[in-house]
Amino acid sequence: MPSSGDDLFTREDPIFENKELLEINHLPEEGRIVGRDDEISDLANAVNPAIFGQSPSNLLIYGKTGTGKSLCAKHISAQLVRVAKEEGVTAKFAYVDCAQDNTETQAVQTIADSLNDPEVTTIKIPDKGLSTSTYYKRLWKVLDSQYDVVLVILDEVDKLDDDDILMQLSRAGEAGKLTDCKIGVIGISNKIKYKDRMDERVKSSLCEREFVFPPYDANQLRDIMQARSDAFKNGVLEPSVIPRAAALAAREHGDARKAIDILRYAGEIAQSNGSKTVREEFVVQARERAETDRFRELIRGSTPHSRYVLQALAVLSLNRPDEDGFRTTKIFDVYEEICRQEGSDTLSLRRVRDLLKEHAFLDIIEQSRHSGGSAEGSYTEHQLLEDPDVVRKVLVETDEA
Ligand SMILES: Nc1ncnc2c1ncn2[C@@H]1O[C@H](COP(=O)(O)OP(=O)(O)OP(=O)(O)O)[C@@H](O)[C@H]1O
Ligand SMILES: [Mg+2]
Repeated sequence: MPSSGDDLFTREDPIFENKELLEINHLPEEGRIVGRDDEISDLANAVNPAIFGQSPSNLLIYGKTGTGKSLCAKHISAQLVRVAKEEGVTAKFAYVDCAQDNTETQAVQTIADSLNDPEVTTIKIPDKGLSTSTYYKRLWKVLDSQYDVVLVILDEVDKLDDDDILMQLSRAGEAGKLTDCKIGVIGISNKIKYKDRMDERVKSSLCEREFVFPPYDANQLRDIMQARSDAFKNGVLEPSVIPRAAALAAREHGDARKAIDILRYAGEIAQSNGSKTVREEFVVQARERAETDRFRELIRGSTPHSRYVLQALAVLSLNRPDEDGFRTTKIFDVYEEICRQEGSDTLSLRRVRDLLKEHAFLDIIEQSRHSGGSAEGSYTEHQLLEDPDVVRKVLVETDEA
């Protein structure tokens, strides 16, 4: 007998009760934010003047990937808006992902558009077509006619083409662009070198307060996952799953995104295997997928040369799996070869060294100093922390995109 539609499909998800809790863009409520009390209260402190309608400090948040920077910035901004309202102050925040809106014009457009209520202001903010300075003029009007205070979160701020928008936003009050509205900028970056690149004037106005978010340890990762375990149906999650996932994620990076991804993938693997429970063995497979995602996200929007340098190290690591480090000059040789194949000029050895440092900060690679004895002096070796096959696969797909 042909099966009827009824028994072809499962009508109820056997694994997940509330999968949104594990989705990438889910913003957890306060009770589910774990281990960031100090950071949150520091941020609150810095933006506190906004509650009285005064200027909040401009801040810069640094830290490795998955340390809760975007989450805490959004959380504190939303809380600020809520409390300000209770005090009779009209506040709002705008969020810009600078990896996506990486030009000054796009970023201003996004800010203006997300804050503008055309019914109140009668101002139009078209997606494109206006000059940068016109977008600014409209933004200032929107701000002055609607708000007492506004916070602008510039996430992945290092991906911006240039610093002009930072200058404009952080000086809007002083420069007389705004008469009523106060503005606070929250810059977020996972590039340690970002600040060195910044123009001195921008630095002094943007970096009034700086915060560094440390990676999570295994206990914190376990608590973060535990706080979302109601994403799963009762009894589905075997007790060893979260501790195992936390241990894996902490050993490598202390990255909460990866920890949560592992949990979601482990559930999906259970689903596709038709398993009734999420078992510890699924965690290992889930980790591989999370690792690939993580690396893809880390290099999103990176420059071609930054990728060539990694590719060079991946080639070396694949060719000589037994070696546990490669010297800068060796990497540089392979990098030059890759540039030749790509028909691209090469950067200086010094720039390549800087790019390697950036990768080290993100824990994509690890650097170690060695002393080569009196004849040689000391030198640095670099080792890939990501699986070289993952690196190569993701870099190839990025170059084809
Ligand atoms: N303390 C925490 N409690 C609960 N969930 C957390 C915590 N920190 C991070 N997360 C979750 O982990 C994921 C990554 O966090 P977030 O996006 O804030 O990282 P990030 O520091 O901005 O990383 P990146 O530099 O890659 O942008 C998000 O899904 C977030 O909800
Ligand atoms: Mg982020």
